[in-house]
Amino acid sequence: MMSKILIKNIKELIQVETELKTKVAGIEMKTLPSIKDAWLAIEDGVIIGFGEMIDLEITDWVGLEILDADGKMVFPSFCDSHTHLVYAASREEEFVDRINGLTYEEIAKKGGGILNSAKKLQNKSEDELFNDAWKRLEEIKRTGTGAVEIKSGYGLSVEGELKMLRVIKRLKAESELTIKANFLGAHAIPTKYKENRSDYIDLIINEMIPVIESEDLADYIDVFCETNYYTPEETDRVLQAGIAIGLTPKIHVNQFTSIGGIQVGIKNNALSVDHLEVMEEQDIQDLIKSDVMPTLLPSCSFFLGIPYAPARRLIDSGLPVSLATDFNPGSTPSGNMPFVLSLACINYKMTPEEAINATTINAAYAMGLNKTHGSIAIGKTANLFITKEISSVAFIPYSFGTNCIETVILNGEIAN
Ligand code: NIG
Ligand code: FE
Repeated sequence: MMSKILIKNIKELIQVETELKTKVAGIEMKTLPSIKDAWLAIEDGVIIGFGEMIDLEITDWVGLEILDADGKMVFPSFCDSHTHLVYAASREEEFVDRINGLTYEEIAKKGGGILNSAKKLQNKSEDELFNDAWKRLEEIKRTGTGAVEIKSGYGLSVEGELKMLRVIKRLKAESELTIKANFLGAHAIPTKYKENRSDYIDLIINEMIPVIESEDLADYIDVFCETNYYTPEETDRVLQAGIAIGLTPKIHVNQFTSIGGIQVGIKNNALSVDHLEVMEEQDIQDLIKSDVMPTLLPSCSFFLGIPYAPARRLIDSGLPVSLATDFNPGSTPSGNMPFVLSLACINYKMTPEEAINATTINAAYAMGLNKTHGSIAIGKTANLFITKEISSVAFIPYSFGTNCIETVILNGEIAN
C-alpha cells in the first residue's frame, strides 16, 4: 500500500508552483517562489496539496504518516540532467598526470581519456557495471538528486555500447530515482577507426541504432561535437539517425572550441546543449532564438582547471540556464549537486536562487521531465528532501562540502 505523508511545520517550502512553467529564463531566474511556515501532503507517490500552516485542515485522512519538519526547509529534488555514471573504473592516474602538467587533451591524445575508459569497460560484465553504478546512485540520492540522466559512450563498439545501455535500462527499472538514458556512441573515435571515421559512424547508424530501437534502450541521442572528436557534419548525421527512431538530441558542445555544435543542436531541436565553456557571441544569439536549454557543468571546469562557462552572460542575455554534474571518471568524478550549487554561485556568480532554479525546474526541462519533476506542484511526483536545520536557501551553496540534507523522499516514500 502506498503511504500518505503530511509534512508539517516546514520553515520554508521552496520552488512552489501553482501555475506550471516549463522553464525560467533571464531575469526570472532570480525569483524562487516559496511559502514560509508551510505544510505539504503526499499520496500515492504524488504531491496532492501544500499551503500555509495557518490554513491546514485535516478532515478525512486515515493512515496518515506525519513528519514534523520542525523548522527545517523542503526542496524539490535536484534533477541531474547530464551524467556518465555507468563506467568500469576510476582514472586517478590521469588526475596525477594533470597535476604533473599534462592537459586533458594531451592525455586523451596519448590513449588516455575516453578511450582508456572504453578499454576498461570491455572486460566488465553487465552485473559488475550495474553493481558499481548502483552504489553511485545510492550516493547521489543522499545528496538530493531525484532524477538523473545517464549516458552510454564508454563502449565505443556495438557490444560495449549495447552493454552499457542494457545496464542503464536495468537501473531505470530497479532504482527509485527517475532515470533517462542517453545514447552516446559518438563519444570518441575508437583507435582502430582513426583513419576511417565514417566506418565507425556507419556502425553507430546501421548496427547500434536499430537494436536501440528494437530493445527500447534510449530516450536521447548525444554526440561529443568537438575538435579531435566529432565534426558538426558528423554530429548532424548521427543526430538525424537517432531522431529517425524517436530519440531527442542532447549534446556535448563548446567544451574546448566553438565549431558550430550549438547550431547543429538548434537545427535538430536538441533538448539541451551542454558544457558551453567556450562561447562566441553568435552562439548566444542563436540560442536566444531557440527552445534549447543551455546546460552548464561547473564541476568539470573545477576538476580540469578549464575556463568556467560564461553563465552570467547567458542569463543576462535573457537565456535560461540549467546545471548538472557531468559525473564521469575522467573530467568530473563527482555527482554532488550541492557542490554544483556552490561552484555556480562562487565561479559563475549566479545567485543562490538562480542556481536552485537551474538545478530544479530548468534541469527537469533538460531531462524532458518538466511535467512531473523540478518543482513542488500538485500532481507532480513527490521527489523532495527535508534539509537539516539551515538558516536560509543561501546556506546550502555557502556551506560547500557539507551535506545539508536530512530526509530524502522519492515517489512519496522515505528513501534514506
Ligand atoms: O562531458 N566531454 C566529453 N565527455 C565527458 C568526459 C569523459 C571522460 O573524460 O571520460 C565530459 O566531460
Ligand atoms: Fe559529459
